[in-house]
Amino acid sequence: MNNMVNVVLLGAPGAGKGTQAEQIMRRYGIPQISTGEIFRRNIREGTPLGTAAKAYLDAGGLVPDELTVNLVKDRLAEPDCAKGFILDGFPRNIPQAEALDSLLTSLGQKLGAVVSISITDAEIVGRLSGRRVCRGCGKTYHIQYNPSAVEGLCDNCGGEVVQRDDDREATVLQRLAVYHAQTAPLLDFYRKAGVLLEITSHEKVEDTSAEMVSALAKVFGQGESDGPSGSGA
Ligand code: AP5
Ligand code: MG
Repeated sequence: MNNMVNVVLLGAPGAGKGTQAEQIMRRYGIPQISTGEIFRRNIREGTPLGTAAKAYLDAGGLVPDELTVNLVKDRLAEPDCAKGFILDGFPRNIPQAEALDSLLTSLGQKLGAVVSISITDAEIVGRLSGRRVCRGCGKTYHIQYNPSAVEGLCDNCGGEVVQRDDDREATVLQRLAVYHAQTAPLLDFYRKAGVLLEITSHEKVEDTSAEMVSALAKVFGQGESDGPSGSGA
């Protein structure tokens, strides 16, 4: 149980959860599980889950807990989670955190660390208005801070790099309000559980990565800095 790398990434929209998850995946050889990315993929593919989730994403609200918890339960049962996982965007409220605790207990596991990435509200709007994502593999870019080598094309897979639908300003402000009301209370929840690691989102992606890597190394060891990358969401 103790050598599993079970990590949750917490943070407001645009804090850099997806960007930093890529580092942890490579270092520890574990998959990133982004509930938002799973919902977006299902919406693109027109599945029943996508149809059920779409209105919530478009409005910047949370998808109902039952749907979200069930998808995480199924995802954690997949074989690539045998060494651990990095949950990006889940849990997002206290009931989801309690459901995750029960789920891990039933699997004979526990959370090793919850990394909270803090960012000011003022920085978020600039981050998200410049964000671009690959339609193919979901890799994240920023037109100013983290551009793809060729504009509009993904470095990883050559897919089309586009703006996310929920990165319009009104939806960003709603997502931010939901974060403060429902997700921020998880900081205290995990601080009390003794697993919270608090880091700051710096101006440069690599400065944030360095702070996160050193915090995680105290819990899980160094990992492999250039190990194999995991699967996407
Ligand atoms: P989700 O996809 O999880 O969105 P989010 O939490 O709003 O977070 P983002 O993906 O927008 O930001 P991020 O922290 O990953 O930042 P990123 O690395 O991209 O969820 C979307 C929706 O799905 C929700 O609104 C909800 O409807 C639904 N949902 C998902 N999970 C759910 C759940 N558990 N329960 C219910 N509903 C759920 O970085 C942002 C930008 O900044 C990028 O352009 C990046 O290149 C740039 N950047 C990153 N780091 C830096 C840095 N240090 N310096 C400069 N730029 C940086
Ligand atoms: Mg993300």
